[in-house]
Amino acid sequence: MDTSGSGVPVFPAQQGTTVAVGAAGQVGRELVATGAVPVTRRDMDLLASPRDLRETALRLFASADTVVNVAAWTAVDAAEDPVNAAAVEGVNATAPGILAAAAAEVGARFLHVSTDYVFSGVPVRADRPWQVDDPVDPVNVYGVTKAAGEDAVRAHGGTVVRTAWVWSGPHEPGRDFVSTMADLAASGRDPLVVDDQTGRPTRAGDLAAGLMELSRLTGELPPTLHYTDSGEPVTWFGFAREVFRLLGHDPDRVGACASGDRLSPARRPAWSVLDLSDWCRLATAPPPWRDSLREGLSVAGG
Ligand SMILES: NC(=O)c1ccc[n+]([C@@H]2O[C@H](COP(=O)([O-])OP(=O)(O)OC[C@H]3O[C@@H](n4cnc5c(N)ncnc54)[C@H](OP(=O)(O)O)[C@@H]3O)[C@@H](O)[C@H]2O)c1
Repeated sequence: MDTSGSGVPVFPAQQGTTVAVGAAGQVGRELVATGAVPVTRRDMDLLASPRDLRETALRLFASADTVVNVAAWTAVDAAEDPVNAAAVEGVNATAPGILAAAAAEVGARFLHVSTDYVFSGVPVRADRPWQVDDPVDPVNVYGVTKAAGEDAVRAHGGTVVRTAWVWSGPHEPGRDFVSTMADLAASGRDPLVVDDQTGRPTRAGDLAAGLMELSRLTGELPPTLHYTDSGEPVTWFGFAREVFRLLGHDPDRVGACASGDRLSPARRPAWSVLDLSDWCRLATAPPPWRDSLREGLSVAGG
């Protein structure tokens, strides 16, 4: 193994087939755009019986070198409704372990995307990003089920990649925060956005590129990694202001509010900043979120 003189391991590129489970979602679409083989709900329902799910997974993963699971129940507020409990548990907590086991059985690497919401949101020390091995302590059902899914994946030798604040942008209208803010800006409506949750946004395409890079690395991967775009942490309010500004609208049209002002069923962590140093030692450093936002909004300069 080459260490490029810096002690950082450099692995040779490896060509292989990457299968994306959850291919119709934000990150899944970007994975497919960069060459992954799509697996959608139509091909494999994660709520099938464990036996059927395993059999389908073994069939679909048979020629894969890497399986990336980006399927999840991501409706954080709806996850709090007891009516959805079995489905949320099935998709986020149970299915990932079955998929990871099937990947191990066919000899494929398994990458599983998880979330900052496994953390409490109260930093260990002020302004300290969450480390990969910090204890999880989720504050909502989505986070609890994602944390359980992480454990199941690691138990079968898979790698968990936590991310946060994923956005796609105006090319995927209505799917994410950035396209929603862009719509509001263009239609003259002035949003109120929470100013007490801090994190780092992640462009879906950046995360997909990072996952594809991981899929090509040879050698053992660590059990847990973090990937968000880089740069200084920001609140949702600050992020919304930047969308308005880059699109040529007055950022002062965005008003600030507190999480407590909103009657959301799910609590959300106040501090979501993930430490990226392990990722940066292993693979290409994520781009600054402001650069990705400018690019995603197709705005020069700014
Ligand atoms: N979005 C964020 O801000 C964010 C933040 C942190 C972490 N994450 C994590 O990042 C990953 C990707 O998120 P995303 O934003 O790309 O999610 P997304 O757009 O909501 O896509 C999730 C995909 O999962 C699929 N899915 C849900 N239930 C399924 C089932 N029973 N069987 C098969 N497929 C099913 C959905 O299929 P359909 O299209 O058919 O509904 C959808 O395509 C997830 O693991 C999520 O937890 C996301």
